Amino acid sequence: MGDLPAGRPPQTHFDDGLDYPRLGGVSFRRGTLTENQHALWEERFGELGTVLTEDSGPIDVDSWFRRSGHPTVVEIGSGTGTSTVAMAAQEPDTNVIAVELYKPGLAKMLGALTRAGLDNIRMVRGDGIEVLTRMIRPGSLSGVRIFFPDPWPKARHHKRRIIQSGPLHLIATRLQPGGVLHVATDHADYAAWIEELRDVEPLLEFKGWPWPEAPILTDRQVITKFEGRGHRLEHDIHEFTWQRRPAPEATGKPA
Ligand SMILES: C[S@@+](CC[C@H](N)C(=O)[O-])C[C@H]1O[C@@H](n2cnc3c(N)ncnc32)[C@H](O)[C@@H]1O
Repeated sequence: MGDLPAGRPPQTHFDDGLDYPRLGGVSFRRGTLTENQHALWEERFGELGTVLTEDSGPIDVDSWFRRSGHPTVVEIGSGTGTSTVAMAAQEPDTNVIAVELYKPGLAKMLGALTRAGLDNIRMVRGDGIEVLTRMIRPGSLSGVRIFFPDPWPKARHHKRRIIQSGPLHLIATRLQPGGVLHVATDHADYAAWIEELRDVEPLLEFKGWPWPEAPILTDRQVITKFEGRGHRLEHDIHEFTWQRRPAPEATGKPA
């Protein structure tokens, strides 16, 4: 249960002239679960998780979370879920959908959320771009979080970075007006790359950091594994927030 389908992962061909990342070898990363993790996975993944496949369609968030009308946040690349779980505990009224390719990471998070007794996290195993495209309805999210995305430091791998004009547009379309995109990185070169893209998406208004009036939780609560490594390396943490502008028809201006 919870395995990625064999063969090429689903990849939408975007035809909008924007730049989209190519999925690197990350989806094929191996890793094993401990016996306990495996048992918990078998017991709970069916209820709390799903795997992106070619047949995946829009998620019915209300029925998945068994409650209606709550704000929904998607975190892409939740890793082992350290900040996901810590934040979800502070925002019980928010539905949190954690998207991650790496099964042992999701398994670790499943253990942590079970121990914490949290019922506001669901998991999707798959590529964040495809999950947003296929499984998340336009204009439905209060927030999107991307914490410490893979920096792909070599120039020839920069096209794999998740922050590019295409994903920024895709995220903007999935956010409801007023919704928030929050990105953090400890990688100086990636931070400069993001800085260059901060105004590229007309539907997103750059809000900077900190943004105390943000309508969703922006305090990451804990130092994640990757952030901890950044601290040890004395890297600065760079945080970015944007807010989804009102729909173009509401402003009367073209998008
Ligand atoms: C550097 S780690 C950061 C993990 C976590 N956010 C943290 O701060 O500890 C980046 C994570 O993003 C995941 N990832 C990379 N590309 C992804 C994609 N296209 N969709 C979903 N997850 C992805 C990787 O598997 C990895 O766990």
